[in-house]
Amino acid sequence: MSKVPNSRKWHRSLTIAGGGRNLMDPRQRIDQALERALGRTTAPGAPPLLAQAMRHAVFPGGGRFRPRLTLGVALACGDDAPELTDAAAVAIEMLHCASLVHDDLPCFDDADMRRGQPSVHKAFGEPLAVLAGDGLILLSFQNLAEAAALHPQRLGTLVSLVADAVGVPNGIVAGQAWESEPEVEINDYQRAKTAALFAAATMAGAAAAGGVAADWRILGERLGEAYQVADDLRDVASDPETLGKPVGQDAALGRPNAVAQFGVAGAVGRLKGLIDEAVTSIPDCAGAQALRALIRKESESFLPQALASYAA
Ligand code: IPE
Ligand code: IPE
Ligand code: MG
Ligand code: MG
Repeated sequence: MSKVPNSRKWHRSLTIAGGGRNLMDPRQRIDQALERALGRTTAPGAPPLLAQAMRHAVFPGGGRFRPRLTLGVALACGDDAPELTDAAAVAIEMLHCASLVHDDLPCFDDADMRRGQPSVHKAFGEPLAVLAGDGLILLSFQNLAEAAALHPQRLGTLVSLVADAVGVPNGIVAGQAWESEPEVEINDYQRAKTAALFAAATMAGAAAAGGVAADWRILGERLGEAYQVADDLRDVASDPETLGKPVGQDAALGRPNAVAQFGVAGAVGRLKGLIDEAVTSIPDCAGAQALRALIRKESESFLPQALASYAA
């Protein structure tokens, strides 16, 4: 998947969605906010290798798809508290990065590469990888709490919806735990391990901007399900150089996945159906039309190049 060009597409469209209010490139805005939040890791008295491991997990980024979604929805809702929007986007991306660090550990997927570089445990060892993931999880919430000083009435909703996305019963922790159960239903597994954080990404964008979070749940949830189906397709139809991470993992590790469940054509059909549902769910608001067009465009890149013939 080509990642940087996608972010440029988001930039143009988000500028339209925000009515020109925020002219900064979303990826740049997200990376600057992540950089500021990571400042705490190098404060006096902090262990330097842990700081390096946490930075390695966050920079250079991957697609930054989830926090761009947070920004996109916040802009569609008016983005009246940009610092809180930034903190919401940072929380979502840091939690995602933490989940990848833990997911790559030998006790999970045992992956040596992530985003084209050695995974955190390969570069820093397992103890620091576990701690870097833990540190990022907590930093997400520390940063969010601090940023809500001017809008304390929005903090409760934000913390609770972000925590739900990573916790039990329906968040990433639950999703990863399904891999230790003797049987799992693929929808429960994929909703918890991937779609929950996407739902939090859209809802947090709305909540940070004073919108109604629940109105944006379906958009995130369907996009997240689509994204995991696409990831399963990439696992069989792409290569490590393009993805920056190993392929063929789902079959090798016996993970429930959309290709095994529905076949390639079936998975592509499911992907398209989920994207249609996502776009249709976007609630009426000033930026709705631009956001619909943006998500249609962005989701075209979900399908791996090798399966482009299925696009029609
Ligand atoms: C990888 O997510 C894990 C999944 C849930 C599919 P991404 O493909 O968004 O990873 P990055 O952030 O771009 O590296
Ligand atoms: C990862 O799912 C989802 C997480 C919660 C981290 P995968 O194991 O399928 O993702 P990749 O292929 O390693 O990125
Ligand atoms: Mg995994
Ligand atoms: Mg994995």
